[in-house]
This record gives sequence, C-alpha cells and structure tokens, in this order.
Amino acid sequence: MAQESRIREHGLAAIVLAAGLGTRMRSARAKVLHEIGGDAMVARVIRALAASGAAPIVAVIGYQAREVEGAIRGAVAHAQIAIAIQAEPRGTGDAARAGIAALPPDYAGDVLLAYGDMPMLTATTLREFIGAHRESGAALSFISVTLNDGGAYGRVLRGADGAVLAIVEARDASPAELAVREINTGIYIAHASFLRAALDGLKPKNAQREFYLTDIVASARARGLAVNAWRARDAEEFAGVNTREELAFMETLLREQVNRRLMAAGVTFVDPATAYISDQAEIAADVIIGPNVQILGRCRIGAETRIEGTAWLKDVEIGERCHIKLGVRAEDCRIGADSEIGPFANLRAGTDLEGHNRIGNFVETKKAKIGRGTKASHLSYLGDVTIGRDTNVGCGVITVNYDGYEKHATQIGDRCMIGCDTQLVAPIKVGSDVYVASGTTIVREVPEGALVMSHHPQREKPGWTATWRKRHGDDGTGSTSHASKPSGK
Ligand code: UD1
Ligand code: CA
Repeated sequence: MAQESRIREHGLAAIVLAAGLGTRMRSARAKVLHEIGGDAMVARVIRALAASGAAPIVAVIGYQAREVEGAIRGAVAHAQIAIAIQAEPRGTGDAARAGIAALPPDYAGDVLLAYGDMPMLTATTLREFIGAHRESGAALSFISVTLNDGGAYGRVLRGADGAVLAIVEARDASPAELAVREINTGIYIAHASFLRAALDGLKPKNAQREFYLTDIVASARARGLAVNAWRARDAEEFAGVNTREELAFMETLLREQVNRRLMAAGVTFVDPATAYISDQAEIAADVIIGPNVQILGRCRIGAETRIEGTAWLKDVEIGERCHIKLGVRAEDCRIGADSEIGPFANLRAGTDLEGHNRIGNFVETKKAKIGRGTKASHLSYLGDVTIGRDTNVGCGVITVNYDGYEKHATQIGDRCMIGCDTQLVAPIKVGSDVYVASGTTIVREVPEGALVMSHHPQREKPGWTATWRKRHGDDGTGSTSHASKPSGK
C-alpha cells in the first residue's frame, strides 16, 4: 500500500480530450476519428502518451462515443485506458474536468493533458517536456511554439518580465493580442491537486460561452503559482487538425517525415511521392519500394526485399529477400524469406508462408499455412488449408471450403503434385508424396504416396468437325460470311 501511494505521488496520468464533434471538418464523423497515415488521429495521440509512460490514460469522449472508444482501445495493445464521458461539449475545460473525475480520488501525481486532434505528437517530445516541467518547479507547464501567423490558436500572454500570465483564445483576443506569435499547442502538465482546484473554478466567460481549459493558466497566476511555457522547436509536431485542408496537409507532412526517416535508414524509394507508409512500419535496409505502394498498420519488411509497385500491404510480416511483384494485396499475414509473390496475388488474413514460396498471378489465399518451398503459381483459391513443404499446386486448383453454412479445412502433405484444375472438397486430407492427376475432384482422403484421379474416360468421334461445320454452311476455310458462323455468345 505504502509503495502504491508513492507511485501515485510521482505518477503520471494522462487525459486526452476527444469528445468534440469538430464542426470545422464538416463531417458527420467525429473529428478525432478522421485518419492520418491510415490511423484515427486520436489513436496516434494515445500511442504517443502511452509511449511517454503515462498510465492510466483517461480518454474523454462524447460525440460518437462508441466509435471513438473503439479507436482508442485499438491504439495500443496493453495501455491502461479509462473512459470518461462528457455529456455535452461545453468546452475543453469541462472535458478536462470530466477526465480528472475519472482518476482515483486519491490520485496525487502529475497529470498530462492533450487534445485528441494533434496527430503528430511524439513520445520523445513529451518525455522532454515532462522532464523540463519537473525540473522547473512550476505548478503548471504547457508547450508553446512561435508561428509567423498565430491563426486560430490561443495566444500566450507574457508580462514585462517575460513571465506567462494567461492564454487568450483568438476569438477573444484584442488586435494587439492577436499579433502575438507565441501560441498554445494544447499540451499541459500539472499536479492533480492543482488541476482539480483550477478546473473547479472555471467560468464560461468568453465569446463561445464555453469552459476553457486554457484559463487554468490565469488561475495558477491568480494563486501566485509559477507557470512555465516550454517552447518547442518544431511547430509542425503540435499542429491541431481542424479542417479537411489541415488533415490533407498533415497527411502529406507525416508521409514525407516517415519516408525521409526510412531513406536515412537505408530504404530505397523509386518515387517517395507515391509511397504511403505507416509510421509503425519497420522496414530494413536495402528494401526497394516501387511506385504506388501502400504499407499500412504494423508491417515488418526484411532486408533486400523488393516491392515492385502498386501493392497494398497491411499488418504483413515479410522476410528477407522477397520479391513482391506488381499488384499484390496482402493483409494480416506472414510471407517467409526468399518468397516470390504476384503479380496480382491476394493474400488474405491468416496466410502464413514459411519461406521460399511462390504465390503467382490470380492466386487467392486465406487462412493458408503453407510450408517451405511450396508453390501455387497460377489461378488458385487456397482457403482454410494447411500445405506441407515442397508441394506444387497446379494451375486452377481450388479448395472447396464452404458448404453454404460452414468453412471446412483441407490438409495437404509434403512433396505433392496437385494437378491443374483439381478441386479439393473439404474437409479433406491428402497425404505426403501424392500425385493428383489434372482435373480431379478429391472427395475422399488420399493416402501417402498414391496417385489419384477422377477422369471421365476420353472418347473421340472421328470426322465430327467437318459434319458440324457443313451443317452450318461453313467450308472450314474461314471465307464464309460472318453471319453463318456460330456467334459464340
Ligand atoms: C484549443 C485551445 C487553443 C489551442 C489549440 C491547439 C482551448 C479553449 N483552446 O483550441 O488555445 O491553441 O487547441 O490546437 O482549449 N473537446 C472536448 N470537449 C469539448 C470541446 C473540445 O472533448 O467540449 C476536445 C475536442 O474533441 C478536441 C480538443 O478538445 O480534440 C480541442 O478542441 P478544439 O475545439 O479543437 O480546440 P481549438 O479551438 O483548436
Ligand atoms: Ca483543435
């Protein structure tokens, strides 16, 4: 118990404000759900806070609460998340009050506050800021940056001695105040006890008749407490997204940043302007990324792998020295080292290729566990299947896995030759070293080492073609009128 209270005194909780609609987006969807880098804005903020060491993280939600909560819970696997509901959007101060009420009443550590619409925020900066605050001895710190034009941001007002006095919102500012170039980014840290008191005392005395979180600055000063505005160097990191234009700008910014970092780490881009790569992707040196490639979610790509171009990859792990050819789509799967995928292959969730595999054009895989060296080069559907090593799946092989109600599994052993145009009617098992003749429909288990076929006996009618053509007035030279030929339709 004693230890727990000590942790709480030096603890770091966080509150994220994400209850607003975001009117300026002109959207039915909550602003913080709009995506940047394939990820809801609020999820990015939560990740930065979690990585900075904050726990618990209280998310204040309201508008589209269910969807926003989903994005928040999906952001980090093991973060300690608490949800607080702000019933009505009565301002950032009111939202913060709802947030702090969700912390244990005896919580007596620091509280970090951030808005859910700052998708570029990084944990590195947060850690620096937290350190600077604790060293400064101030009761309250917030991050400020200097812009050429403060736009709609809150302005930082300082006294003649340079001490911070207040933040004034652009809407409420006098022309002289609007000229101030130092703005409030919206990241704050203070001790829980100060915050509780300051938030309780907020009044909605402003143009919007809202409770402003920013008023805690003046409130600290009124109590004779020191406030530290920590000036950050990189203003872009704190840009809030309020409009679609800002959203698109931020997307480009993030993309350029990710690509630059990857290039510095040894990744080649044929055309960085058309590479859309999540900042959660881990891409090794000497990977080559061709034009029009999307690498989303948590992808990991091993050294010397080449992605030719026009690929869509999400949560995919790709080993070393793979060749991902034109037009590959892969999601939630693993592609082992030295594999060749595509062109035009669709690897759906649960595909797991051990390595040295070849999945060729117009092959679709789903929940397919495929052993080392096994190939499916053309036109196949492989679903709910386990295939051993060094098996060759011929052109047009189909796992017949669905009976209209349930999916059934197919098992194929090592070193098999599955002939072209084979259907495997699941549930079914084919042992190792089996040869399947082309055109076979497999309906019973095939034992190891067997040859299996289901051929209809072949018959010939000699001279049939000439009789057929004659009946259609065709002499077979190709010179008859078009109208008398079979239409083929
Ligand atoms: C806010 C700051 C401003 C700062 C800017 C930085 C205030 C009053 N102003 O302005 O000083 O320069 O951010 O980007 O704090 N929210 C709620 N409940 C509400 C209202 C808002 O949860 O009742 C959430 C929103 O979902 C959003 C965040 O708070 O994620 C910020 O709200 P927003 O309206 O974008 O504030 P700004 O006007 O940008
Ligand atoms: Ca904002």
